[in-house]
Amino acid sequence: MQNKLLYNDAGNFMITNDTFPRSEFDDWAETYDLSVSTNKFPFTGYKTVLKKIANLAGVKPRLRVLDLGTGTGNLAIRFARSNCDLWCTDFSAAMLEKARQKIPSAHFVLNDLRLDMPSEIQSPFDRVVSAYVFHHFELDQKIRILGKLIRLLAPRGRIIIGDISFHDLRNLEKVKIMEGDNWEDEFYWLADEAIPALENLGFKVEYTQVSSCAGIFVLQV
Ligand SMILES: C[S@@+](CC[C@H](N)C(=O)[O-])C[C@H]1O[C@@H](n2cnc3c(N)ncnc32)[C@H](O)[C@@H]1O
Repeated sequence: MQNKLLYNDAGNFMITNDTFPRSEFDDWAETYDLSVSTNKFPFTGYKTVLKKIANLAGVKPRLRVLDLGTGTGNLAIRFARSNCDLWCTDFSAAMLEKARQKIPSAHFVLNDLRLDMPSEIQSPFDRVVSAYVFHHFELDQKIRILGKLIRLLAPRGRIIIGDISFHDLRNLEKVKIMEGDNWEDEFYWLADEAIPALENLGFKVEYTQVSSCAGIFVLQV
């Protein structure tokens, strides 16, 4: 289903047909950290995924890092601890407020990833990272968003995306059966269909399956 942008009287955008509206994430902000601490589907291996993203990013002081869909800041804080120049975006003000409480040193920008990046987000970034966000978008939207990020990357920059992801549909189906009532249908990554689409954008892609339902994509131009 295509999302459609509309503007209300105040000039603020609304997206119609929105499968995952901003208000849902605002409501979730208070209990989000509890949800991820269960280590159950869809967050099986959550902490390992965040740790591996930071390792793959080669976290070090002054690295310029953009975290997309920061949520309550659980990935971002790993970069803040190493004194990175950290920029965090999310479309949920309530989520960003939670992150701001954990990481006062970071820059926070309210933004819907389906729209253009706001002017505060100035390239170049050494790393663009994201965890558990892109499964809210269909594949063509994932690809559209990632294509627009290329211009934000510094030379030899990398995009590192950890998310709910499977090698292919067969693996997804196995986990779906195993999880039974816990399963929810969202736009989970299938590496075998995403990799060719990402390569078409000009990325070199490496994919690693991290847990039964999570994987990490490393993208380099
Ligand atoms: C499951 S949480 C992940 C949060 C955090 N990255 C983590 O790993 O814990 C998904 C986050 O993506 C944000 N998000 C979802 N759709 C978005 C969109 N269209 N634009 C910007 N942020 C979005 C939500 O507000 C939420 O904070």
